Amino acid sequence: MPGCAKKMFTREIEFESIGGSVEVNQEVEGDVGCVVWDAAIVLAKYLEVREKGKRKLLQGSSVVELGAGTGCVGLAAALLGASHVTLTDLPELLPLLEINRVQNKSNISGVLEVQQLIWGDTQQIQTIKIPDVILLADCIYYKESLEPLVSTVRSLSTTTSTTIMSYEQRTDGNKPELQRRFFELMGENFTKRQIPEEEHHETYRSDDISIFEFKKR
Ligand SMILES: C[S@@+](CC[C@H](N)C(=O)[O-])C[C@H]1O[C@@H](n2cnc3c(N)ncnc32)[C@H](O)[C@@H]1O
Repeated sequence: MPGCAKKMFTREIEFESIGGSVEVNQEVEGDVGCVVWDAAIVLAKYLEVREKGKRKLLQGSSVVELGAGTGCVGLAAALLGASHVTLTDLPELLPLLEINRVQNKSNISGVLEVQQLIWGDTQQIQTIKIPDVILLADCIYYKESLEPLVSTVRSLSTTTSTTIMSYEQRTDGNKPELQRRFFELMGENFTKRQIPEEEHHETYRSDDISIFEFKKR
C-alpha cells in the first residue's frame, strides 16, 4: 500500500464519556487531507457532547463522512455508536483512510468501511447507500468543487437525514466568498441551524470554527 511507506505521526483523540479514543495517523508530507484539521476535532468532540444529551444522532445510525481526510470525524462517529460508517475521499487519500480504519477497527462494534467518493461523481454517489447522517469537516475549501460538494450532499440526503458540517472561518483569498456561496447553494434545498458555541465541547471549541446542521426540505 503506497501510504505505508510515508512518514506518519499519530494523534489520539480521547472520548472521556465512553472511555475510548480514536487514533488518527497523519502524514508528514501530502495534500490537505493527510492531517487532522481543527474543525474536524471540534466536530468530533461536538458529536460526543451531543450523544450525551437528548438529541442523540448516532446511536444505531448509518453515517457517511465526505472529504474525510484522515477519517477523524467518521471514526469518532463509529466509536460513539453509529452502526455503519463509510469514510470517503479522493482516491489518493484512501490508503491513509484504510490505515486509520484498520488501526481503530478493534474498538468499534459497527461496520466501518472506506470508499472512494469524488464529489459530484454520480456513478460513485449511486454506490453509496443513503445514510442517516452525513458529516463533513472543513470541506468549503475549493471553488471548483463547491457545487459538486453541495450536489453530493443533496443526492445523499432525504427529508429525514441530517447533515452536520463544521468549518473554520477563513478570511484569506476567496474563502469568504466560497463560504457565502456554500450557504447560498445549500439554502436552495436545506434548512440550516447553527449550533451555538455553548453547545460545542467546553474545551474543544473555537471562535472561528462553526458547526451547522442541515435538513433537506
Ligand atoms: C481541508 S481537508 C479536510 C479533511 C478532514 N475532513 C479534516 O477536517 O481533517 C478537505 C478534504 O476534502 C477532500 N476533497 C477535496 N476535493 C474533493 C472532491 N472533489 N471530492 C472528494 N473529496 C475532496 C480532500 O481530499 C480533503 O481530504
